[in-house]
Amino acid sequence: MQKGVIRLETQYWQVNPACPEKEIIMQAASLIKAQELVAFSTETVYGLGAAAFQSQAVEKIFAAKGRAENNPLLLHLSCMEQAESVAKEIPPAAKMLMERFWPGPLSIILPARETVPAIVRGGKTTVGLRMPAHPVALALIDQAGPLAAPSANLSGRPSPVTAEHVKADLDGKIAAILDAGPTGLGLESTIIDLSNPGCRILRQGGITVEELEEAMGMSITVNNPEQENFPHYQIKSKLLLGPSWEEIDDYLSSIEQLEKKLVLVHPYIDKNDARWEKLKDRYPQYQSYDLDLNTATNRLYSLLREAEEREIELLLFTPLPKKLGGIAGVMLDRIYQAAGNSL
Ligand code: TXA
Ligand code: MG
Repeated sequence: MQKGVIRLETQYWQVNPACPEKEIIMQAASLIKAQELVAFSTETVYGLGAAAFQSQAVEKIFAAKGRAENNPLLLHLSCMEQAESVAKEIPPAAKMLMERFWPGPLSIILPARETVPAIVRGGKTTVGLRMPAHPVALALIDQAGPLAAPSANLSGRPSPVTAEHVKADLDGKIAAILDAGPTGLGLESTIIDLSNPGCRILRQGGITVEELEEAMGMSITVNNPEQENFPHYQIKSKLLLGPSWEEIDDYLSSIEQLEKKLVLVHPYIDKNDARWEKLKDRYPQYQSYDLDLNTATNRLYSLLREAEEREIELLLFTPLPKKLGGIAGVMLDRIYQAAGNSL
């Protein structure tokens, strides 16, 4: 157990995802007000919430997750007034994006008011604002006030898309888990930085680059500065990014000699591509997972955790496109990151 973490009996509450039971939300809100941590579902992944203006509560997030203190947290809000009370100002571009995409999977970085505790900002002068599109998250924020909330996993691990994933990482370290079933999207929010003139996407996610470019009427740079400092989506199984169709036979025969417990993952865009079936027929000794990059967004992090649980030594994602647009591009970004590469 890390420093600063006291062993707790984690409460585990099932809650109706569409219409959360008031008593459960009230109980969870009183834990938050008592400076405890509560995990809750959002439309992207599960979050680990603490009262945003109580530094001691927020400190517990860093301890429970083993998170670096200079890694800032997103502020989760349920109304525009809260956004106005934490951002120094809301420029017209930010206002437009909020009106268009909130509640929804877009986090917006803006200059922070000094009233936002430094621990939430990771010592920066900016703050990330997010209004999740999930009845449980919104009800909890309505009752408890703005929540500082990262994804509810141990630092560096895949984000949790079910309450079981949260439990696997944080049981005994947090006060409660609100189980509202699997999250819808299964990938995190997009992060856009509007704290300086111009704008940058710091993390691709639920709102695609194309949607943002269309809304802003301009092309937007995507870069991911924090990835170098903080590895993400790591599991015990080793991930390899497979070669192209042409090289795959040579590649698999070299792997075979290693006698590793190997599972192939076939990330596909076009299920009708006949080459998939042929590939499976040629290597019946290997198990394989199919992963539809366009629709199975909520499958990727589960698949990573499942592989680890099954003690799979090697997960070979193959063949893998180099570049894709839309939500498939976000999936690709996460696969590369999980393998310790960047696109
Ligand atoms: O979908 C999501 O965004 C989920 C759910 C729970 O809302 N949250 C989430 O939080 O993914 P977290 O902490 O796991 O990832 C937020 C990312 C971190 O990489 C952090 O460095 C970055 O946002 N971030 C937060 N505040 C920032 C700031 N002021 N400037 C730059 N990056 C920031
Ligand atoms: Mg995270």
